[in-house]
Amino acid sequence: MPSQASSRKKFYGFIFALTGVFTLVLVIAFIWSSPAMPGNPVHTPAQSQQSCLACHWEGQGGAPLIPHRPMGSCTFCHGAP
Ligand code: HEC
Ligand code: HEC
Repeated sequence: MPSQASSRKKFYGFIFALTGVFTLVLVIAFIWSSPAMPGNPVHTPAQSQQSCLACHWEGQGGAPLIPHRPMGSCTFCHGAP
């Protein structure tokens, strides 16, 4: 019969692995849920974060407001359609 210490170790190992799987699934689901930027001349994948924010920070010209913190490269999640 395994000792109490070793079965506790297995239990925590299991919880740790489960947390990892949950986190990974949530991160992938979040990135996957981001809408692609519209395919028009103001939306090109080569744009910098600053140029995206110029319209999307204050809703310039009817652009939808950015509903989240600016996180790194916009086009990593909002790819071209
Ligand atoms: C010149 C202003 C302008 C710039 C620069 C701009 N956008 Fe937009 N964006 C808009 C406008 C206006 C809309 C809404 C109208 C439309 O759908 O074309 C929009 C819509 C969007 C949407 C919503 C798409 C949807 O289906 O809901 C996303 C995502 C987006 N832009 C991302 C970006 C990213 C990423 C960049 C930088 C690469 C960027 N935009 C640069 C004006 C801009
Ligand atoms: C890590 C992935 C990720 C990154 C990087 C990212 N976004 Fe998003 N964005 C999302 C997700 C997911 C949504 C939709 C869920 C929500 O509303 O929060 C979204 C929604 C948006 C919308 C609203 C679209 C609409 O139709 O209302 C805009 C605008 C937008 N993002 C702009 C930007 C800009 C500009 C940048 C770069 C500064 C950026 N995003 C970077 C994941 C991301």
